[in-house]
Amino acid sequence: MNATNTPLTDFIARLPKVELHLHLEGSVRPETLRELARTKGWLKRVGAAYWAWRRARQSYRYGSFRKFLRSFGAATLLLETPEDYALATRRLVEWLGRQNVRYAEVTLSAGVILWKKQSVEAVFDAVSAAAAEVHGRTGVRINWIFDAIRHFGVAHVREVLRWAERFCSRGVVALGIGGDEARGPAGLFAEVYAEARAAGLHRTAHAGEVGGPESIRQAVELLGAERIGHGLAAARDPTVMALLRERRIPLEVCLTSNVATGILRRLEDHPLRQLLEGGLVVTLNSDDPAMFGTSLTEEFLLAANRFGLTRDQLVCLSENAIRATFLPATEQQALLQDLAKVAGVRGESH
Ligand code: ADE
Ligand code: ZN
Repeated sequence: MNATNTPLTDFIARLPKVELHLHLEGSVRPETLRELARTKGWLKRVGAAYWAWRRARQSYRYGSFRKFLRSFGAATLLLETPEDYALATRRLVEWLGRQNVRYAEVTLSAGVILWKKQSVEAVFDAVSAAAAEVHGRTGVRINWIFDAIRHFGVAHVREVLRWAERFCSRGVVALGIGGDEARGPAGLFAEVYAEARAAGLHRTAHAGEVGGPESIRQAVELLGAERIGHGLAAARDPTVMALLRERRIPLEVCLTSNVATGILRRLEDHPLRQLLEGGLVVTLNSDDPAMFGTSLTEEFLLAANRFGLTRDQLVCLSENAIRATFLPATEQQALLQDLAKVAGVRGESH
């Protein structure tokens, strides 16, 4: 069998991949959550509420964005100790290795750790040791984005920034904000983001996910965000499309996520093709893969099978992601060379 008629699944499996929008807490699979709940005696303690929440997770539909955020918060409660976080990290990085994801910028919700009154230092020590151990075995490299909860306000985001600064020599490459765009508009955080920039950190923001195009404009113009998480609302405003195109700001598109959280009714409603045809820098990501029953491999498959992307376009998305990493140019080049080896033998279409 030559490369042209290699099955699509094999082609995607062989493609060296990079993931830029992946929450550690949202990657904890239901089996691991059950294991954690059992060892902590939680199954008895929280009773009905826990089971209701688990059922929502099993259908991978949350009904509304607020309900999804509540489920995300509930899942993080099971990560009670640094060892729990280390277990989550080990399982995530091993799983990335099985998908041929070579590098990931994993979001750690430092904001949630603060909310739970845990030690950010102890958790970060544990997750970075776990990531280093799995890197030694699998070669998968991880850097970290510290994420704050925007609807907790400015002081909270600044506290997360202080922790990110503290660990920037240990693989924390960026500050991000997640949570509810409506209750935490980007403009509030302009000063904090300027401080992040001055500290040598990169800046990302969820924007244009549940919020409209204006939320994206604010993230770019007021926060200096270098990448936009989701950004699907850009398709509703040609001026925001132009802004993203002219500044070449990558979008971290998460197809399955947007249906599961209730932003879109159907996958087909996602403006992926419009974003690509508008000349934007698009990357594919899994967001909270265990909460949505997806993986980066699956997102590539959906892009091909449900949106008609060719193999050339899939390679282009992987290349976009490599170029959008916060890695130094030499490390990007090494990943691009690996990609070229596979892309060089790729077929014409799927
Ligand atoms: N936290 C985890 N996943 C998120 C998402 N998709 N949007 C906002 N905050 C999040
Ligand atoms: Zn996210």
